[in-house]
Amino acid sequence: MAVLKDHEQEDGPTRDEPSGGKPVVGDFYDLVTDFCRSASGTEALHKGYFDGPADPAPLAQAADRLTRLIGERLRLGPGTALLDIGCGSGQPARLLAEETGCAVTGTDIAVRQLATAQRRAATTQHDGRLVFHHAEATALPFPAKTFDRALMMEVLTHLPDTPGPRGKGAALAQAARCLRADGLLVLADLMHLPARLGSGPEPAEVPSMHVSTPERLLTLLDAAGFDPVGVEDLSEQVRPTSPRACRAIDEQRQPLTNTYGEAAVASMTALMEELARAEYELGYMVITAAVRTTRGGRPASIEREQASAGPVTMSSS
Ligand SMILES: C[S@@+](CC[C@H](N)C(=O)[O-])C[C@H]1O[C@@H](n2cnc3c(N)ncnc32)[C@H](O)[C@@H]1O
Repeated sequence: MAVLKDHEQEDGPTRDEPSGGKPVVGDFYDLVTDFCRSASGTEALHKGYFDGPADPAPLAQAADRLTRLIGERLRLGPGTALLDIGCGSGQPARLLAEETGCAVTGTDIAVRQLATAQRRAATTQHDGRLVFHHAEATALPFPAKTFDRALMMEVLTHLPDTPGPRGKGAALAQAARCLRADGLLVLADLMHLPARLGSGPEPAEVPSMHVSTPERLLTLLDAAGFDPVGVEDLSEQVRPTSPRACRAIDEQRQPLTNTYGEAAVASMTALMEELARAEYELGYMVITAAVRTTRGGRPASIEREQASAGPVTMSSS
């Protein structure tokens, strides 16, 4: 299994210009998703919320706790239109739709994950409140002001911090464009926090990641037309996630080997250990931001970016 490094995204093929017909980051997630679900018992591909290192909550429960916390920050309710950018296999979308009554449109570039999300949506009772589209975060195929809320859960880390049409700033501008005047955006992600630098073991190289800082993200949010509403440091609460994932793989080594083979188990073990080591040095923040309204309405930069095409529905395979 390939472990993608930073330079492979910056200099190599981009998500818009796929290598071998498929986007690079999406490929990676399509490869690891089934394995992660088998090991962790959930299709959520994000961190869990633990009350402390001794909290015995299973990974799936801890992941859903984090989703619920984010749902609260998004102030969701029946009828709220939520755009989940980088939705993965749709576990957060399903949970939020089920528990709050909101309608979720999920987008991602990982084709197999989207197919899973669509399959699950078809077998759950959400009255058509769950739809999924194949879309790059920097090129969302929705008309302006379509959604009340937007979520990017551990997605921005995969976009370069550099200015340009494929960077974090471009994705935030797209989110702003798609939100209505009173819209809210929540970002949840790993971040570099200065306080922890040098306090632990040498950081490992994190695969396919462009980890940012809260300051940098607040600057990018400002440029995209958002005002911060809340900045929360959940570093301690999410830090047990990767070590628990390592343990889960270890405890299920034999069945995982039977299903995925020895090489995949060895590769995923190495990846999780590397992540656990790297994340010891990293923080995790949840940033809530509101679309900035100006005297005449929304910032001109957002009004300029009008969507040209309607949504492209992802076909099941
Ligand atoms: C860590 S997973 C999180 C998935 C989901 N948000 C969750 O919490 O379960 C990151 C997701 O971001 C998606 N992703 C990465 N870069 C993207 C991009 N440029 N546009 C859209 N999705 C992207 C990946 O395919 C993957 O599904």
